Amino acid sequence: MAELENSARVRSAPTQADVLQLEALLVDLWRLGGTPGAPGLARASPEQARFRAEAGPRFWSSAVLRRCWEKPRGYAGDFLMMEALYRHTPTGETPFERWMDAWALELPGFQAVRNRRDLLSQMLREEHARGARRVMNVASGSAPELVAVAREISFDTVTLLDQDQGALDAALAHFNRVGALPATRHEALRLWCGSVLELLRNRSELPAGSQDFIYSIGLYDYLTERFARRLTEKLWNGLAPGGQLVLGNFNGHHPMHHFTESALDWYLVYRDPEDLLRLVDGLPGVERAQVRTEDTGCLHLLVARKAG
Ligand SMILES: C[S@@+](CC[C@H](N)C(=O)[O-])C[C@H]1O[C@@H](n2cnc3c(N)ncnc32)[C@H](O)[C@@H]1O
Repeated sequence: MAELENSARVRSAPTQADVLQLEALLVDLWRLGGTPGAPGLARASPEQARFRAEAGPRFWSSAVLRRCWEKPRGYAGDFLMMEALYRHTPTGETPFERWMDAWALELPGFQAVRNRRDLLSQMLREEHARGARRVMNVASGSAPELVAVAREISFDTVTLLDQDQGALDAALAHFNRVGALPATRHEALRLWCGSVLELLRNRSELPAGSQDFIYSIGLYDYLTERFARRLTEKLWNGLAPGGQLVLGNFNGHHPMHHFTESALDWYLVYRDPEDLLRLVDGLPGVERAQVRTEDTGCLHLLVARKAG
C-alpha cells in the first residue's frame, strides 16, 4: 500500500492488477492470521490490533471506509454511509484518498447492497402489478429502492419505519427531489420514527393484515435469533392475505466479512438460507418461502408469500 501511495497509479482509477494484488494480500493475511478451518484475525487479538495500527489508516483514507470505522451515528451502516454506496462516486482530497474510496466502493459486499436495492425496486414493481397498494419498509434508511420507482408506480400508503429521524427526512427530501411522492399525496406517506423494539413491545401499532408488502433490508444482520424470530412473527401478522414479506441478511461465507470485521470493527449476525427459512417456519399461512441470493453471493433475501 505504501508503494501504491507513492506511485503515479493513484492518479487513475484502480487497475485490475492492483485490485487483484490487494485482494490477494488480504486473503493471505486472513489465512495466515487464522487457523486452518477458521481464517481471519480473531476479535481483539494482538494480530488484529497490529493490522489496524499498520494498515488501518491507509484503508480509512477512503471516506466511506472511514465512516464505517468511526461510526459517527453510533453504528457502521447509517443511512449516510448507505447513500455513499448508492452514489457510487469516489471522493477524497488527495489522489490516494480517491483511489482508496474507488477501491472500497467496488468491494463485493458494497456492490451487493446496490444489487439488493435494485432487486427490491423490481419486487416493488412486481408486487404493485399483483395489486399490492400498502407497503411498509422496516429500518428504511432513506428508502432508495422506493425513491427509484416513485415516479412509475403509486401506492395508497407507504410506511417507512426507522429509528433515525435524519434517515426519514432524507427519504422525504428524495421523494420531493424526484418530483413524486410515492402515492402522490403527502398523507399517504407515513414516516414513523421509532425502534422495532417498540413494535415488539406493542407500544406502536401495526394492525393485523394491514400491509400488502413488508420488507426489511439491513436490519436483520444486527438481530439475534430470538429477536429476529419475534420481529418476523410481528411483521407476518401485519401482512394481509396474499401479501409478501422480504427480509435481507448478509451471509458469512464471503471473505469480505474478514475485512469488515478487522479493518472496520463491523461485526454482523450472518445467516445462511436455512437460517432465514427457519424465521418463517411454523408461521400461519406460509404459502411459499424461498431464499434469493444477489449476484455477488454476499447477500440473501428471504421471500415469503402469505396464503391468499
Ligand atoms: C444498514 S441501514 C439500511 C437502510 C436501508 N434499509 C437500506 O437498505 O438502504 C440500517 C438502518 O436501520 C436503522 N435501524 C437500526 N436499528 C433499528 C431499530 N432498532 N429500529 C428501527 N430502525 C433501526 C438505522 O437507523 C438505519 O437507517
